[in-house]
Amino acid sequence: MALDAAQVQQLAKEFESKSAQEILKWAIDRYGKKIGLASSFGAEDVVLIDMMANIDKEKAHVFTLETGRLNQETYDVMDDVRARYGIKVEAYFPDQKEVEDMIRGKGMNLMYESVENRKLCCEIRKVHPLNRALANLDGWITGLRRDQAATRGDTKKIEIDAGHRGIIKLNPIADWTSDMVWDYIKKNNVPYNKLHDMGYPSIGCEPCTRAVQQGEDPRAGRWWWENAASKECGLHFDPMKRK
Ligand code: ADX
Ligand code: SF4
Repeated sequence: MALDAAQVQQLAKEFESKSAQEILKWAIDRYGKKIGLASSFGAEDVVLIDMMANIDKEKAHVFTLETGRLNQETYDVMDDVRARYGIKVEAYFPDQKEVEDMIRGKGMNLMYESVENRKLCCEIRKVHPLNRALANLDGWITGLRRDQAATRGDTKKIEIDAGHRGIIKLNPIADWTSDMVWDYIKKNNVPYNKLHDMGYPSIGCEPCTRAVQQGEDPRAGRWWWENAASKECGLHFDPMKRK
């Protein structure tokens, strides 16, 4: 059942010329609910939800990392998605004790004090819940795109996730541009996060995301007080590749 490195490399080649829908159908047929979309309910993820619901509403498995620090607009789109597609969203919360210890020691606003503190918060509120979400899965799906950041330029449409027991990681819209994402949303009337209309191209947690100015890098509003080199939260860390 599990794919080896050579098979995944071959599939990555084949998937380059396949549509996102074809790749998702392959995944749902092969893995059913044992593969899940990690959704932050940003523009990329609602596109993937729409596609998955159209392929098979019953088998579409969507989960979210509920950090406890999300924007109200993100909760709103979560509910819009539930209403529109009738799918369940699995929310993974951080470990209560880890959060309590962190806040007792470093306060609620620790992320602004140092990169180390910010990474600790991301580790506790995002990375550990992701590990829990993936513990019983054979694969996961993301909305990563190559042109989002220099660190994402070599994203394959299918990869082995060495950081998570070697399960499959699918990035079906790795080769899409932001314009393609928005064309799809408008054409299919997909519910989206209203923060996107307020100058937020990329949305994370409320304390760590701000709107960007015209001409600014789309990810400039994420952890805006840090320099560009440190701007990843650890969700997509691959010990075999980089960082
Ligand atoms: S991040 O690493 O900088 O936070 P980004 O916001 O660009 O990631 O999102 C990239 C992909 O990571 C999303 O398309 C989604 O698959 C996944 N992701 C990010 N944040 C979450 C979240 N809170 N819950 C579930 N998946 C997420
Ligand atoms: Fe904490 Fe900010 Fe990371 Fe969210 S993005 S987990 S609030 S440091």
